[in-house]
Amino acid sequence: MTIKRRLWAAYHGFRTPDRLFSQATAERIRQADEERLAWRDEVPRWERIRPIAEDALQQAGCTGGTMLEIGGRLNPRNTDFPAFDYHALDLREMPDSEVTVAVGDITNCPHIADESYDFIFSFDVFEHIDKPWLAAQEIQRLLKPGGVTMHSTLFAWRYHPCPIDYWRFSAEGLKSLFDGLDCVHADFDYSERRRDLRGRDGNLVESDALGGWRENVRVNYAGIKPRR
Ligand SMILES: C[S@@+](CC[C@H](N)C(=O)[O-])C[C@H]1O[C@@H](n2cnc3c(N)ncnc32)[C@H](O)[C@@H]1O
Repeated sequence: MTIKRRLWAAYHGFRTPDRLFSQATAERIRQADEERLAWRDEVPRWERIRPIAEDALQQAGCTGGTMLEIGGRLNPRNTDFPAFDYHALDLREMPDSEVTVAVGDITNCPHIADESYDFIFSFDVFEHIDKPWLAAQEIQRLLKPGGVTMHSTLFAWRYHPCPIDYWRFSAEGLKSLFDGLDCVHADFDYSERRRDLRGRDGNLVESDALGGWRENVRVNYAGIKPRR
């Protein structure tokens, strides 16, 4: 850009005359940067999710028993609910895992008896299940009456195959999947909305022209199986 044009831009109030941003645009960029970093000041993710499960367990009066974590191969939550006898189910084994992982598919597990679990939990799994409606049916079958299920999954997030990325959910969608349960929580979590996920956690997609961090929205569901 010529010096003459820069001087013209500065004279006409452009805050960054070499890039010809107006003050309003510069302000929008500043705000976007602020939003992009805001997730760092939020309560950490697990500390936002665990209380939802704890509240549901409390509402159900479920103080212990058997717990099934679906997709417990990675980052198992085996010590987070110490009142429960922990079982993990996953499509794959995890050599050297601190927990024993039963290999199985939550969409089809007839080898597990009806009403086997007091608490069934998953974290970042539902978006990776090929037929989540079958998983929801199996979970409702496996729950004891009065048992609790809680799932934290994604409404909007970058593509992240682990092993395959199939779905995104709304709060109403999760309620519909678990329509045999009494819903005690179904809501979005916007805490990481503008977080820049480029290059993180298997987010393999190249950045787009807008930075690729526009909408990261989590969704959490908790329900209680009615007592007969
Ligand atoms: C993104 S990982 C999340 C793991 C862990 N919960 C965490 O927070 O890191 C998703 C896990 O779900 C498992 N998974 C996907 N579909 C499944 C199914 N139908 N039945 C059981 N596990 C499944 C995958 O094998 C994988 O280990």
